Amino acid sequence: MELSNRHILLGITGGVAAYKSAQFARELQRHGASVQVVMTEAATRFVGPVTFQALTGRRVYTDQWDASIPNNMAHIELSREADVIVIAPTTADFIAKLANGLADDLLSTLCIARACPLLVAPAMNREMWANPATQRNVAQLVADGIELLGPETGDQACGETGMGRMLEPEALLERTIGFFVPKSLQGRRVLITAGPTFEPIDPVRGITNLSSGKMGFAIARACQQAGAQVTLIAGATSLPTPLQVERMNVSTARQMFDAVNQVLADGARTDVFISVAAVADWRVENASESKLKKSADGKPPELQFAENPDILASVAARENAPYCVGFAAESEDLERNAQQKRLRKRVPLLVANIGQATFGRDDNELLLIDEHGTQKLDRASKDALASELTREIAKRLNGTR
Ligand code: C5P
Repeated sequence: MELSNRHILLGITGGVAAYKSAQFARELQRHGASVQVVMTEAATRFVGPVTFQALTGRRVYTDQWDASIPNNMAHIELSREADVIVIAPTTADFIAKLANGLADDLLSTLCIARACPLLVAPAMNREMWANPATQRNVAQLVADGIELLGPETGDQACGETGMGRMLEPEALLERTIGFFVPKSLQGRRVLITAGPTFEPIDPVRGITNLSSGKMGFAIARACQQAGAQVTLIAGATSLPTPLQVERMNVSTARQMFDAVNQVLADGARTDVFISVAAVADWRVENASESKLKKSADGKPPELQFAENPDILASVAARENAPYCVGFAAESEDLERNAQQKRLRKRVPLLVANIGQATFGRDDNELLLIDEHGTQKLDRASKDALASELTREIAKRLNGTR
């Protein structure tokens, strides 16, 4: 699990978004973290500490003057145990306190006594967020090395719409997981294709494949968490876009090819191209403009096929090509066929899916093939494999392998 052995101190301050913190605490735990909740007095007006105590299985601290703590050093002990402090929601008032180093309650005191990183998720009305004092304080937090999680724009509990909404629990979770990932691709730009392509036969029919896009999307997420700027070109899939990843939707192989070339031509250098999509080798050349009907003589329509461009091979053949990573799904003689594919497409790294029917599954097993030989990544979830693969790509890119 991505947060195994991580101890997270979850601070909650007095905003209505505190109702979402219960879900966030739960998600942190579901991903392996242990969670210690500390609430301000105002936070307890919105959600009861008992809720968090029940969810986390730990006593919730709210008071600086807690006589039950023998040495009265909760602010030191709690912050020393934590790998990170995450405050969600963080009010305008608490941001002001942090910016000025005030320590007049337990949570603000342990923030100033901390020896670990601090992440804050602001939550407030849009006018409060836009207020120059808040903006000044936020800039101070950033200058002090405190990481901001959001806020985002959208509907607000007060009925207004604008900037200041707290990130949703799932997004807070993703950002917290991402915080622990080593930034091995910092400053790198990564382009990824994922999912199936769809080649029309007529306006309502077409040829596609069973690719779900899960592996490609997992790799996009892992690269983003490793610090890369990621563009994901996706064929038809309803998977949600990973946080902070730029997504372009395409349908046919030629649209995917055009989208890839458009990104590669946009001026900023792409460092890595990872071709995970299951691209159709053939398209129907005589696709019909109108829906095909059964003919009176019972003869099936005659489809003519034309070859699609090989996107990966064309990128790898470019002058000054990015570091190219291809994928292979082979039914037999995996290693030999994959090695041949690597040489034929002229890519430095080819990743072979071990075993058939990986399409749509949540786990996988991979063989990495490069000029040095093969390396197996044992069966694991696609998210875990994506992180491992990302580390392997970064090693090769940074010359540390
Ligand atoms: O030749 P094959 O389809 O087995 O090669 C698989 C690899 O090539 C994958 O990385 C796939 O994304 C890429 N590919 C491509 N364009 C095609 C066919 C495959 O980029 N037309």
